[in-house]
Amino acid sequence: MEPTINRGLDGIYIDTSQVCHIDGQRGELIYRGYDIRELANKASYEEVAYLLWHDDLPTRTQLETFRQQLRPHFAVPPEILEHFRRCPLATQPMHALRSAVSMLAAYDDNPDEVSLNNVRRIGLKLVAQFPTIAAAFERIRHGLAPVAADPELSIAGNFLYQLTGAKPTPAATRVMDVALVLHAEHGANASTFVARATASTLTDVYSAITAAVGSLKGPLHGGANTEVMKALEAIGSVDKIERYVLDILADPKGRVMGFGHRVYRVLDPRANVLREVAEKLAEESGESKWFEMSLEMERVMDREMEKRGKQVKPNVDFFSASVYRMLGFPADMYTPIFAVARISGWMAHLLEQYADNRLMRPQLVYQGPVGRRFKPIAER
Ligand code: COA
Repeated sequence: MEPTINRGLDGIYIDTSQVCHIDGQRGELIYRGYDIRELANKASYEEVAYLLWHDDLPTRTQLETFRQQLRPHFAVPPEILEHFRRCPLATQPMHALRSAVSMLAAYDDNPDEVSLNNVRRIGLKLVAQFPTIAAAFERIRHGLAPVAADPELSIAGNFLYQLTGAKPTPAATRVMDVALVLHAEHGANASTFVARATASTLTDVYSAITAAVGSLKGPLHGGANTEVMKALEAIGSVDKIERYVLDILADPKGRVMGFGHRVYRVLDPRANVLREVAEKLAEESGESKWFEMSLEMERVMDREMEKRGKQVKPNVDFFSASVYRMLGFPADMYTPIFAVARISGWMAHLLEQYADNRLMRPQLVYQGPVGRRFKPIAER
């Protein structure tokens, strides 16, 4: 019997999971049963990270204990900061983050043990260290000294503080929290699959997360948010959006960044929340250009996709780009911010994977030649 090929693993279920469910037809996303819209409106990133690693939301005491467990880990080994200082100036933040995660294994006393206790211990370190690493690299490449975390601040607050050196306003911290909650988890997306597949060899957490960071960086995955902003910057004004979109769609292989999804057939619920956040920020800051351009791009894409009978809607990366722009982040920091959030989801999946592991080993349908005779090199 001919094997079935599912290119891009489309429609393939690799295991069961308790962490997250996406209903792509209805545009619903739940983390352990809780609707993403409610979590984004009401929960902090720490509560969500706890939820992803446990069965339920934390009580007040459990949350305080979780925060205390994170606190000692915010600092990163000075050797990593030293490495950043030696990186060529053009080094992209995602390359820096990926290398830093890999280096962290060398500074961990017990990097290889994959017992659930040890995996959880490393997870706490990484959740605390990702914002420090991303912020430190951004400062170092601009000739600024890294800022030590303030143990009194939340992860969202600390990330802003470590980036800017100024204590963030509650409003900015809240926007950051919402963004982190929305990006924390999303089922068997490419980077999470890569993390689980890597861990399925029973290699260590650092290797699995290094691989996941590399996967997230791609423009078809987490790298799309950076591409969205690069596109908006290149387009420059609302009146040029239509031409830009039509030019891309003239090529059947053309993809407008920030649109489309493998699972959602209707609007990604995270995009809706981020649209509202972007609108509010645009009103408050008076810097409405990026939001207006985004709305126009959505309008043109809706019209064009409807004409073509396709269901291609904005995804999480589309409005996050204008949100981050209005928060003052450079475009190439958007994907590291995604990673700062997604580390908690990756860790939730590694806990599941190591708890009941089975090596991932798919197959390829061979279509090459067979039966060839070896010719000695002198005869070729
Ligand atoms: N722009 C234009 N057309 C798009 C599109 C986009 N961003 N995304 C999908 N489509 C169209 C394709 O033209 C395709 O049409 P066809 O069936 O006539 O060939 C159809 O929708 C299905 O697209 P396909 O690329 O096969 O779907 P997929 O499940 O493989 O792709 C993505 C999903 C995310 C890779 C794809 O939508 C994409 O490249 N988006 C842009 C990158 C992005 O924003 N990534 C972040 C995802 S969260």
